[in-house]
Amino acid sequence: MPNPKKRAPKPVTSPYCKPQGSAIHQQGLFATKKIPCDQEIIQYVGEKISKKEGDERAIALAEEREGTGDASVYMFILDDDWDVDGNVPHNTAKLINHSCEPNCEAQIIDDEIWIVALRDIPKGEELTFDYGFDLDHYEDHPCRCGSANCVGYIVAKEYWPDLKKALAKKKAAKAKGKKTAAKKKVSKKASSTAKKAGPKRKRKAAKKKRK
Ligand SMILES: C[S@@+](CC[C@H](N)C(=O)[O-])C[C@H]1O[C@@H](n2cnc3c(N)ncnc32)[C@H](O)[C@@H]1O
Ligand SMILES: [Zn+2]
Repeated sequence: MPNPKKRAPKPVTSPYCKPQGSAIHQQGLFATKKIPCDQEIIQYVGEKISKKEGDERAIALAEEREGTGDASVYMFILDDDWDVDGNVPHNTAKLINHSCEPNCEAQIIDDEIWIVALRDIPKGEELTFDYGFDLDHYEDHPCRCGSANCVGYIVAKEYWPDLKKALAKKKAAKAKGKKTAAKKKVSKKASSTAKKAGPKRKRKAAKKKRK
């Protein structure tokens, strides 16, 4: 039972940043003054929970918010045993968006998660870090960071080569599908017997590939 007398923690503040509307997604955190490289900017706070609990909560929130456009990813990996659920009202750092060309990174310092500047950041710039997502379900996380090198999905840099391969494969399969459709149209005009046999075989082959 929650204790009604226990006050909710105040939102975490930092002299270096504040929440503001973001072009990337809803709210973000922005530099309120020039931030020097390596500066610890703000702590990412939350509830320290077991991996099992972390996985369950992450899946539940993703399912609850699927298709709403609302944020659903707040879980942080602290170490092999523990996660930090940052989906608490006082965690101001949860507003930091992902970028393919981030100006910050999340570091674990003395068992705490801190957002640290990767370079000098001018006043007014949005703070971002690499969420470090792997390739699983990458299509559920399109990236709108707007950086020149944006890879199109929220995926950690180490997986970019694999992502690029997967995207190239997808593009080739799509082009092949279009070619097949064009052939179908041509054969429709050319011969009625080809129209019946040809497309059926091709459709089966395409399905097998998708599996
Ligand atoms: C921890 S929240 C970040 C704060 C969020 N902007 C908000 O207002 O609640 C993470 C969510 O923000 C969105 N987001 C963050 N970075 C993004 C990006 N580069 N492109 C698209 N959406 C992003 C995604 O919906 C993601 O699940
Ligand atoms: Zn991006």
